[in-house]
Amino acid sequence: MKIIDYDISGEGVAKEEGKVYFVKNALLNEEVTVEILAEEKNFVRAKSKVIKNENPNRAVPQCPYFFKCGGCQLEHMNKCESLLFKQNLICNTLKKIAGIDVRVEETVASDKDYHYRNKSVFVAKVYDGGTHFGMYEEGSKNFVEIKKCLLASDGINEMLFFVAQFFEDKPERNLKHLMLRQIDDQILLTFVAQGKLNYLDSFLTIFKANNFNGGVYLNFNSSDEEILSGNFQHVYGLKNLTLIEDGVAQKIYPASFLQVNTFIKEKLYQKVISFVNVGDEVVDAYCGSGYLTYLISTKAKSVVGIESVPAAIKAAKQLALSKKQTNLKFVLGDVNDVLKGQLNKTHLPTIILDPPRKGCGKKVLTMLADAMAKRIVYISCSPISLAKDIKLLLSYGYSVKFTQGYDMFPNTANVETLMVLEKN
Ligand SMILES: C[S@@+](CC[C@H](N)C(=O)[O-])C[C@H]1O[C@@H](n2cnc3c(N)ncnc32)[C@H](O)[C@@H]1O
Repeated sequence: MKIIDYDISGEGVAKEEGKVYFVKNALLNEEVTVEILAEEKNFVRAKSKVIKNENPNRAVPQCPYFFKCGGCQLEHMNKCESLLFKQNLICNTLKKIAGIDVRVEETVASDKDYHYRNKSVFVAKVYDGGTHFGMYEEGSKNFVEIKKCLLASDGINEMLFFVAQFFEDKPERNLKHLMLRQIDDQILLTFVAQGKLNYLDSFLTIFKANNFNGGVYLNFNSSDEEILSGNFQHVYGLKNLTLIEDGVAQKIYPASFLQVNTFIKEKLYQKVISFVNVGDEVVDAYCGSGYLTYLISTKAKSVVGIESVPAAIKAAKQLALSKKQTNLKFVLGDVNDVLKGQLNKTHLPTIILDPPRKGCGKKVLTMLADAMAKRIVYISCSPISLAKDIKLLLSYGYSVKFTQGYDMFPNTANVETLMVLEKN
């Protein structure tokens, strides 16, 4: 069968005898014979067995876990193919969900395609008398032990190795996840646990003895809905990472948001700032620790950042104080609750939206339209949520002026999209 398209996770799509096939490890225009993995009424899940007419953009996956682990989806494509895949993904999703056919600029590449992540979360699993760390297979809860992740920074991999070695003969049954965050030589570990950890004290003894420039947190979470709960306990060492950019020191706590790929973040932020004019009154909803908000304040008349995580807003306020930026303000709260009050203090504001994966939703978008926001600069990590929100904004009299993908997550099927809308 011939691969005629890609689905949203980068699997090849083929059609035969009225059925749609989703084929793993198959690129556009390739002729493949497949092994069937699962057969449903209208579609079939399969993987390629023999490939004829290899697509010239096929690449050899670098990671030994690629065909098992669900962490990456696109290592079998070269950079050119994966950037094009992401551009088409944005375009097609907007067509399908928002009903618009807009020009999508070429996807902006990351300066690094491997070892770019400053945060990684590993699943913990007890077997063979020890605790092992890894990921799940794509779309399942089947555990795959990972010794090294090619997307994670070197520092994260070194700490993963250290932690895995310590626990290899220690069955830590309450441990669910290990989150590692790294900036320069600083590292923060968060053990996500559903109860008391029996080996924590002996781990801390050995962690201290190694003189890492790091800190350790516990996160108690008995629910399986989210990886982290809001219940953090600092148990040793650094309380936060310090990220210094352009002479600005930002404090990053375990729950604080930080763009995960430092090797593209600046390009995205500079583009956002290019859509802010001198004299603009700006509201930066979902502002995280406020670095982008600060950058905007160096250009705009005024800017207020809104964020619901207390540690992030505390760090943002410290940043504003240290830079003595009087046109910069931060507000702690849920955007749904506090946005209206902030919009009431502005005149024809420019809005920056960078919501979590699920998007903004009707309440927030209606408030923006009511406040006559003149321009909306929307950053999204989910083309589907973006398209749903855009559909609503179009119905409120906005039109799309600019759309571009940023390869924030190379080798995976995820893409960050920047979209600019203006009031008609
Ligand atoms: C994708 S991040 C964007 C952060 C920031 N723009 C940046 O570049 O670092 C989304 C942020 O929104 C915050 N958030 C999520 N839901 C929120 C809500 N309902 N109200 C306020 N902030 C929220 C999260 O804590 C997170 O910091």
